[in-house]
Amino acid sequence: PRVLVLNGPNLGRLGSREPDVYGSQDLAALRTLLAAEAGDDVEVEVRQTDDEAELIHWLHEAVDAATPVILNPAAFTHYSYGLRDAAALVTKAGIPLVEVHISNPHAREEFRHRSVISGIATGVIAGFGFDSYVLALDAVRRATPTG
Ligand code: DQA
Repeated sequence: PRVLVLNGPNLGRLGSREPDVYGSQDLAALRTLLAAEAGDDVEVEVRQTDDEAELIHWLHEAVDAATPVILNPAAFTHYSYGLRDAAALVTKAGIPLVEVHISNPHAREEFRHRSVISGIATGVIAGFGFDSYVLALDAVRRATPTG
């Protein structure tokens, strides 16, 4: 089985972007970490875009291929109803979608306290650095009978 790990805007800058908040490891390191965690039975595909439309299309792709999703919507978390509706297509189809955040948005600025995604996500994991993705992978496996 396959898992899509989809990352929203500015996460391509991981490593140099606010390392005090997001750590000093980049997306390539995340790929390596998740590939090691996945082992041979699961194929993890890590993608990143700054483009809302592209992220929405990737969620449509997940629906069509019935692929579980680990989604870090980044700033779109807080205001994108278009992304929310696309994520709802995934979970309404019975496909797990785990919302992840590297930081704990609730411990940060007020505008980060609201997620428009959480209400339709299967579940949310936040605040554990890159381990948020590792925990989400475990959650996806537990939520997927064949995973
Ligand atoms: C984030 C938290 C968001 O508030 C922020 O806009 C991001 C990253 C996180 O992973 O902690 O870009 O989703």
